[in-house]
Amino acid sequence: MSKPIIFPTGITCVFGSSGSGKSTLTRDKLLPQINGPQMIVIDPTHPDPNAHTSARDAASAMYEGQRKVVLRSMDPEQAVPLIYAAWARCCKDNPVYLVCDEASEYLDHAATQKYKSLQTIAQTARHKRLGWAILSQSAVNIAPKIRKQSRSTFWMRMQDHLDIKLAKERIGHKLGAQSIDDFTTGQFIQHPTVTPSEATNDWQRPASAGSY
Ligand SMILES: Nc1ncnc2c1ncn2[C@@H]1O[C@H](COP(=O)(O)OP(=O)(O)OP(=O)(O)O)[C@@H](O)[C@H]1O
Ligand SMILES: [Mg+2]
Repeated sequence: MSKPIIFPTGITCVFGSSGSGKSTLTRDKLLPQINGPQMIVIDPTHPDPNAHTSARDAASAMYEGQRKVVLRSMDPEQAVPLIYAAWARCCKDNPVYLVCDEASEYLDHAATQKYKSLQTIAQTARHKRLGWAILSQSAVNIAPKIRKQSRSTFWMRMQDHLDIKLAKERIGHKLGAQSIDDFTTGQFIQHPTVTPSEATNDWQRPASAGSY
């Protein structure tokens, strides 16, 4: 198992069945690599006593400059407006890292049908330097229009046969003789892998041409 390395901008996905270790990996190994950006977390089970329950309150805290803002909700009508606000807020002088846990509840195909801006956000996150971690028990339930923008994905233990099929298609030969339904808690395959210098240089990249 290689060392997990996360890009500070663009989409990173973490997929695995319940209890496979997604939230722990993200909290303990991935997010500590993100230094500087304002952190916006959407997580229906987040224990933070100061967590907000409405997008309006969470967005206000974000604009007031609170370094870490938590929205405890999985209601798409709260989660999606905050995703939009984080994307709009993110700029060179105020980079934002967004974490969406239990994301299949609000980033599924129906959400991208209803909230068309989600596709634009997914497509432009990297160029706008928005970092975005998407955690889900199901890979196939995350809207393909969002999932396919992932720069690197952590595949953890999976049980659903459609998820396993997708994982095999994506990971291919890297799985070797390993079977993803037997992974221990915390075990993952990152694909494609990211080198430390690639992750560091992500910040130094010149701003892309265009209107961002
Ligand atoms: N690398 C690890 N080694 C040992 N135990 C771990 C490891 N990672 C996570 N755990 C434990 O496994 C349990 C499940 O972990 P975690 O909550 O991160 O899973 P999850 O994939 O986010 O689950 P859910 O989809 O239900 O939110 C927790 O009790 C956690 O402490
Ligand atoms: Mg979790």
